Amino acid sequence: MSAPILRKLADLRTLTTDWHRKDEVIAVVPTMGALHQGHLSLVEAAKAGCDRVIVTIFVNPKQFNNAEDLANYPRTELKDAEKLAAYGIDAIYVPDPDEIYPKGFATTVSVAGLTNVMEGEFRPGHFDGVATVVAKLFLQTQADRAYFGEKDYQQLMVVRRMARDLDIPIEVIGCPTVREPSGLAMSSRNQRLSADGLQVAAEKHRIMRALADALKDGAPFDALAVQAQTDLLTAGFAQVEYVQLRCADTLEPLTHADRPARLFAAAWADGVRLIDNIPV
Ligand code: PAJ
Repeated sequence: MSAPILRKLADLRTLTTDWHRKDEVIAVVPTMGALHQGHLSLVEAAKAGCDRVIVTIFVNPKQFNNAEDLANYPRTELKDAEKLAAYGIDAIYVPDPDEIYPKGFATTVSVAGLTNVMEGEFRPGHFDGVATVVAKLFLQTQADRAYFGEKDYQQLMVVRRMARDLDIPIEVIGCPTVREPSGLAMSSRNQRLSADGLQVAAEKHRIMRALADALKDGAPFDALAVQAQTDLLTAGFAQVEYVQLRCADTLEPLTHADRPARLFAAAWADGVRLIDNIPV
């Protein structure tokens, strides 16, 4: 059965108040729509662990640092609802923009430190937009658990920090990245890649895997990173923004994979910005 699509906070609150009265555990899966198997894996995890599942779909203008990217972002609400019908979720919250940013809205949630590097460095203001909307979605849905993908590992860390710092009573759960058979991490932005672009994009995972394997053998990161950047350009990427090795817990930069680490990369192919990360 397909879940109701709610556009008003008051309607959502009617449901969640009733669920909480019955002591049901509520999950939220925040998304910007154009759902693919990566999103749906979060829905599955939420269904498995909770009594009620809310999927939110909101293309959040505040987290786009590029007007063209916002304009080009795929919007496929009907298809998304059809995909979700198979999962037996309880509500799809597609808030009217006013429900998130009413006239006069003046508050920004900003997480320091974690947001200075990588995505924060290359997408100024991005994480303020993410932290602000996610704080609102947590408070609006009153969920007990929230499911996020490791695909956006830095975002997962930022959201966790924000919820802890603001005492929002929610458990933030990270789920593994879902990939195409080629290794390419699923992303709504992949829809904008041409057939050639898809082939180039898939090379990123192969190059990152090779780098991760060398790191596991104890090699220092710096020289390998330079080689990986060259390999990405040779594979057809137009521009590489970063290749970095960081501590999986604190995101501090590492010279060697001498503790649980993650390898991160961001690069442009076909006019599309693609990010990925893998554990080392
Ligand atoms: P969006 O890009 O739609 O992603 C929604 C959620 O799906 C995020 O937690 C993201 O990490 C996860 N996800 C995306 N691709 C995935 C993949 N291949 N495997 C596993 N999980 C994947 O991230 C956002 O939206 C927004 O920033 C949001 C948190 C909704 C705030 O606006």
